[in-house]
Amino acid sequence: MLHLAAGTDERWGQWALEHMDAILLDHAHCEKKAASTALSMIFRYPDRPQLMMPMSALAREELEHFEQVVALIRRRGGEFVRQEPSPYAARLMAATRKHEPGRLLDILLCCSLIEARSCERMQLIAGALAERGGDAPGHELHELYGLYNGLLVSEARHHATYVELARGCVQIDEAELQGRLAELAAHEASVIEAAPREQPRMHN
Ligand SMILES: [Fe+2]
Ligand SMILES: [Fe+2]
Repeated sequence: MLHLAAGTDERWGQWALEHMDAILLDHAHCEKKAASTALSMIFRYPDRPQLMMPMSALAREELEHFEQVVALIRRRGGEFVRQEPSPYAARLMAATRKHEPGRLLDILLCCSLIEARSCERMQLIAGALAERGGDAPGHELHELYGLYNGLLVSEARHHATYVELARGCVQIDEAELQGRLAELAAHEASVIEAAPREQPRMHN
């Protein structure tokens, strides 16, 4: 269960396929950012031992995803290049509280929502690829399909990991946690709704 407050229009997947080179570049940046966010939690919260191993493992896994996406970009004749960051993550994170332990709880829940939205968008891309026959081995779109179909499973797991860490790190009852998750999910839905549509991005 992804805890998103609003789903993306199904047509987004086909739109993404029309701009696959730009989406792949943005996707590579997202994986890099996901690795860096996990690593930053180790630096920011050395006093939270329960975060260390999961965040270290997550950072490694996200870097592997980064490598997979960059390798595919190169096989398609492109290159990983600098890109202006999408405003999505910064706008979402703007809702995190400034004081602990609310801050830690909010960061973990916002990270879970980013993972959930990424998973949802990857599902739409994989679905759009399947509609064009990409789920059949040997099809020219099969490599792309394999990438997205594989990664979306990881992102769903990461979503659950962050919610689980929020439960384990912050003393809060379940109703309160679910309430805060619903508030942040509503904020996330408004951020993604307001995202600029001109540039093809994972979170536009
Ligand atoms: Fe990832
Ligand atoms: Fe992830």
